Amino acid sequence: MGIEIRPIQPEDIPSVVECIQLAFADDPYHQWAFDTRPGKFNKERNFASLKAKCEWGMRNALFYVAKDIDAGADAPVLGVSMWMKPRPADGVGDKQTWSEWLDDYILWFKQGWNLLRFQGRGGLITKRYWIWKREQAVAQKDIWTDPNGYYFCNIVTVRPGHQGKGIGRRLFEVVTDLADQEGRKCYLESSKEEPNIAIYEKMGFRLARSMVCEDGGDVCHLFCMIRDPQPPRP
Ligand SMILES: CC(C)(COP(=O)(O)OP(=O)(O)OC[C@H]1O[C@@H](n2cnc3c(N)ncnc32)[C@H](O)[C@@H]1OP(=O)(O)O)[C@@H](O)C(=O)NCCC(=O)NCCS
Repeated sequence: MGIEIRPIQPEDIPSVVECIQLAFADDPYHQWAFDTRPGKFNKERNFASLKAKCEWGMRNALFYVAKDIDAGADAPVLGVSMWMKPRPADGVGDKQTWSEWLDDYILWFKQGWNLLRFQGRGGLITKRYWIWKREQAVAQKDIWTDPNGYYFCNIVTVRPGHQGKGIGRRLFEVVTDLADQEGRKCYLESSKEEPNIAIYEKMGFRLARSMVCEDGGDVCHLFCMIRDPQPPRP
């Protein structure tokens, strides 16, 4: 099997969303932030929301898919990574462009439409989402001290059944190689302590901080990891 890592194309989106849904089903953050009880979690609604996020990511993020090149164009996406670009604190890179502003607005509109269309959030516990966003802002203010900004790994996932075969490393290296060339740091958050921290340490990340999101006695721990730039790979 030959694995190709390439930028996402519009036709990849359904398979990308499926890959994310499958790989995150048992993710501690997902379990905490969504009401996953039967009848409460609406997979179709979640699909629509992730699709809108992917369409936004195609234009605004570094967004890659892993495909088996021997399996044909219709074969499923085997892995996904979506990274936010660094925002250097130089008075230019930290300012939102008009097209970014417009894309944020379009995403907001699509999510609003999904809210109406599905008559709800499909199980997302909005209060918990905002608890996480608040804790994330505190954590990033605390540890994002480098004025050059950080490549932020927003989504990384490998389809169940294909994990542990080097696909995740390939998805990481597309961006970590770029970060190394630019002398820039990378950042990620994981709610799965094992085995993810060990996996990310293999990719050069170190645990920098943890986040505790709590609501009504239900707690979700998230692990914030940073990767310092490294010498280019041989
Ligand atoms: C986390 C994830 C993206 C990693 O991708 P992957 O394809 O499984 O990882 P790889 O096979 O490329 O392995 C990367 C490194 O971690 C090591 N590794 C893989 N699985 C491991 C495990 N269970 N324990 C310890 N190390 C492990 C590998 O040996 C490899 O190191 P090496 O290249 O130095 O030998 C993938 O497992 C995944 O999608 N998990 C479920 C969803 C998820 O948790 N997503 C991340 C949310 S933050």
